[in-house]
Amino acid sequence: MDSRIRSIVKKLTLEEKVSLCSGSDDWHTKEIERLGIPAVMVSDGPGGLRKQDPDAEDHRVDNSIKAVCFPAAVNLAASFDTEIVRSVGETLGEECQAENIAALLGPGINIKRSPLCGRNFEYYSEDPYLAGKIAAAYINGVQSKGVGTSLKHFCANNQEYRRNSYDSRIDERTLREIYLKGFEIAVRESRPWTVMCAYNMVNGVQMSENRRLLTEILRDEWGFEGMTVSDWGAVRNRVRGIAAGLDLEMPYSGGAYDDLVISAVRSGELPETDLDACVERILDFVFKAVDNHNAEAKWDKDRDHIYARSVADECMVLLKNENHVLPVKSDEYVLFVGGFARNPRFQGGGSSHVNCTKIDSELFAAQGNSKVMYEEGFASENDSVDRVRFDRAVRAAQSVEKVVVFAGLPEQYESEGYDRAHMDLPRVQNDLIEAIAAVNPHVIVVLENGSPVTMPWIDKVEGVLETYLCGEGVGVSTFRTLYGTSNPSGRLPETFPLRLEDNPSYIDFSGDVTEIDYREGIFTGYRYYTKKKMPVLFPFGYGLSYSSFTYGLMNCDRESMKDNETVEVTVDVINESSVPGKEVVQLYVEPDIPNTGIVRAVRELKGFTKVFLDAHEKKTVRFVLDKSAFAYYDTDISDWYVEPGDYRIEICRNADEVIEEKVINVVPKKPKKIIYDENSIYKDLKVDHQAWRIVKPYFDMFIAQEGISDPDECLADMTLRSIVGMSRGKITYTQMRELIDRLNK
Ligand code: BGC
Repeated sequence: MDSRIRSIVKKLTLEEKVSLCSGSDDWHTKEIERLGIPAVMVSDGPGGLRKQDPDAEDHRVDNSIKAVCFPAAVNLAASFDTEIVRSVGETLGEECQAENIAALLGPGINIKRSPLCGRNFEYYSEDPYLAGKIAAAYINGVQSKGVGTSLKHFCANNQEYRRNSYDSRIDERTLREIYLKGFEIAVRESRPWTVMCAYNMVNGVQMSENRRLLTEILRDEWGFEGMTVSDWGAVRNRVRGIAAGLDLEMPYSGGAYDDLVISAVRSGELPETDLDACVERILDFVFKAVDNHNAEAKWDKDRDHIYARSVADECMVLLKNENHVLPVKSDEYVLFVGGFARNPRFQGGGSSHVNCTKIDSELFAAQGNSKVMYEEGFASENDSVDRVRFDRAVRAAQSVEKVVVFAGLPEQYESEGYDRAHMDLPRVQNDLIEAIAAVNPHVIVVLENGSPVTMPWIDKVEGVLETYLCGEGVGVSTFRTLYGTSNPSGRLPETFPLRLEDNPSYIDFSGDVTEIDYREGIFTGYRYYTKKKMPVLFPFGYGLSYSSFTYGLMNCDRESMKDNETVEVTVDVINESSVPGKEVVQLYVEPDIPNTGIVRAVRELKGFTKVFLDAHEKKTVRFVLDKSAFAYYDTDISDWYVEPGDYRIEICRNADEVIEEKVINVVPKKPKKIIYDENSIYKDLKVDHQAWRIVKPYFDMFIAQEGISDPDECLADMTLRSIVGMSRGKITYTQMRELIDRLNK
């Protein structure tokens, strides 16, 4: 902490310190003129600036300045491209500088536990590794421009229903491996200036006063040195919050808690040192922003609009392309159908909503192309049926070579503030797709949605392009992808299940309850579907290209390692086609340890990289794996642990499709100490050579007494305590206790 800040803190009165711990309005920190402490401004994000317009009369969400809307978080994750995400971050950082924003309130990296979460579009993935890596790239990009970020919502905020008060009840291993892991990666790899605590409770403790998570894990274990800020209105008890390490309360609460905090300090209930620590971290944030501010910065909205289109290109996920229906050829007569072509859906609702500079619709992109015709067919805003429009679209579909239906979720179907009721598209859209597919064999569906949908017509259409919510450049980017001037290279950052009921959280998600048990444990998303060998509509990591890629030689630079060492994995990727394109190489690790007592996922993503390959080009891709690729969180030792044994390192096309694999044997440098007790059994003791030397005479005695010829089979499950009970007094309880003490020494 710099000495300037320490000396300011010494000069602050108790009242001033307390007042600094909350904002001055919705978006600013407090100013204290006499000590030269300025106010700084924060703004939502994260897909574009939602800076409150200082000239607007009221503070409605849409009263923000004009800004550029980039693809939503789900799209950035679908790019599987940390370089592009970093560069989006850099652009946003420059925009923040030009608007004098100290920190952008994002990224949000909560796990997509259910396809129904209303904010899924604002989150990255069902997989914590992907979420953490994408978040780190985004944060590093923004912060490289001297602007802070706010990694949110910490943590386990996976639904909107009762979002301020529900309790996420999660066992420790699941918390560590799934719900904290992405935050851990992002904190360690990008050092966000701030972390935003979530609204909800975790295991009975409100996040805004959760010392274990806000201080013991975030700061003490992961080394976070920045400021924590409450989600807007997330504070419950400010005294407990300060003691827990929650620094800044946002927004301004009218000083509602100041008197309580002052009297808690005066009475000794709250140590003043706790308050000082919060104030120091707030001031550190404020001065870091001031010191890094570039008063000369300007931003060019037109340039960033064009850039937003090319970012969208990188995120398109081609889900189906039968008979090479795509790309559409320029001389083909094509019918565009659907209200979304005129009025695209390209961003989510709520605090991330950007007041766009301009919006490219698909019809705008198709302007001047005499081979493209348009029929609305259905409205983009709701599920209403207009029979005349519907029938006109079906009639027009009969006389063209191809039909592109622009379908998606109306704005009111998904947003911050509420969860989706089901996973389906509006019925009118499904009906029209079916009706058109019945009269034209070459139908392509373009989807505009923030989260998975069911596709009852999937076998009747030839093409599906998932654009998600790809920002204000949506139309131009979609058009480029449909016509092949851009080659799709996105991959699904989440599984599309066949039905909502297949999702592992289905039984426990939402409902009219406050306590949500995460009973599926570590089996979120693909971890569940692969374990249950369940068919899905599209697996995690899935996506096609206009190029065709094959894989060559895979190599690991060692066959065994200790968990403090690393292994280098290389694999050749070849573009067999004459179309230049990008491939996402995905690396998963699958434990292959017979008779393990540890429940593990079939495979987990542990590396990915996106590589550009010219026509017929070959490149070698390289990964380095360390302990984190093999470890699970062991609650016996409260630490990550690598079970000794074989692990398959797999190069996959997606979570369901392994292309190449190699096996490596990994052992922990420090094996876990096994604790024995009365319930320890024969077969576990026998594999531990030292333990076996100690207990063997006792089992031998019993074997001889009973005349057992095949002890490995008969006694496999026999406990130490049963020797006492069955030895007919030859072995006493005291002897057994001494034996256990010797074993544990
Ligand atoms: C949201 C945050 C957002 C904040 C400020 C809250 O309701 O959960 O994500 O940053 O408002 O708008």
